[in-house]
Amino acid sequence: MTDQLVRDNIKRLKPYSSARSEYKGQAAVFLDANESPFDTGYNRYPDPLQQELKEAISAVKGVPPAQIFLGNGSDEAIDLLFRIFCEPGQDYVITLPPTYGMYQVSADIAGVGVREAPLRPGIFQPDPAAVLAQASPQSKLLFICSPNNPTGNSIRMEIMRELLGAFPGIVVVDEAYIDFSSQESALSLLGAFPNLVVLQTFSKAWGLAGIRLGMAFASEAIIAYFNKVKPPYNINQLTQEEALKALKGREAQEATVQQLLGQRALLQQYLGGLPFVQRIYPSDANFLLVKVDSPRAVYDYLAKGGIIVRDRSKVVLCEGCLRVTVGTPAENERLFRSLVSFEEENTNLAS
Ligand SMILES: Cc1ncc(COP(=O)(O)O)c(C=O)c1O
Repeated sequence: MTDQLVRDNIKRLKPYSSARSEYKGQAAVFLDANESPFDTGYNRYPDPLQQELKEAISAVKGVPPAQIFLGNGSDEAIDLLFRIFCEPGQDYVITLPPTYGMYQVSADIAGVGVREAPLRPGIFQPDPAAVLAQASPQSKLLFICSPNNPTGNSIRMEIMRELLGAFPGIVVVDEAYIDFSSQESALSLLGAFPNLVVLQTFSKAWGLAGIRLGMAFASEAIIAYFNKVKPPYNINQLTQEEALKALKGREAQEATVQQLLGQRALLQQYLGGLPFVQRIYPSDANFLLVKVDSPRAVYDYLAKGGIIVRDRSKVVLCEGCLRVTVGTPAENERLFRSLVSFEEENTNLAS
């Protein structure tokens, strides 16, 4: 079913065959890959399909290794989705703004159009009829970010199911923030919908943004296309080792998530008491979208004190909003103290 959505040149593509994927057995002497023979710990190319790491991820996620692709961040998976499915100048994708900016950037790089079906104001849920009104045989990808960046809310499961059932292309559910969410993952829908791709990452809850490791979960057929088009050794050995270490120490990740959820609640409480804060949107992620009286003044004041938040006040449906990542307890306290000073100084100025 998804095969007919794939670009013809990708279907015909004869992928690069690396030395390490041509010979899979055990041997004593490897003279096939023009590597250095001297052991530095890293003189050999890494496993191109990251089998040990995929087994470990499989055990945590309950998805078979053949349904997992690993990328240099989920951003690589997003880029490859365009290359696999979207014919430049002909196909297009649908996004649900306000949302993560890379979908648009990747589309622009690929020369692929973007049509927008904005979320409903205030509740930030998609309007399925409006989304499907934009669909056609050329709409190859629909990006649903859940929990959504920058709004922080999860997209309702019934809406996802409805869109998965009716959308003629691939539905990409970007779950970068899923570990902070009270809603279940869309991974549970993989068996029912062959057009589903779920993206997750080690960059947020795992605390490993620096190693660049993203995951895509999908049908075996879609994952086979990812493997066909990816650069041969896209995940380096250091990254594979660090991720395996993290997966073995999973309790640490769970403790971090719990701590951040506690801090998120505290931050909500802090910010809610400030008179210039108009609204704090409910969050299923590790950040809060906060509507304030004069966003630029607040932003500049914080920046002068060395605290950087994200100004989203010019983003559609986020007018007046700043996006604040949940930090350490000390960082959150510092943020709060700085906001209290901002309030005091402004009240003094006004009186
Ligand atoms: C929704 C969303 N998806 C993906 C990413 C990028 O993830 P990665 O670091 O795995 O490339 C981000 C990063 O901010 C994000 O907000």
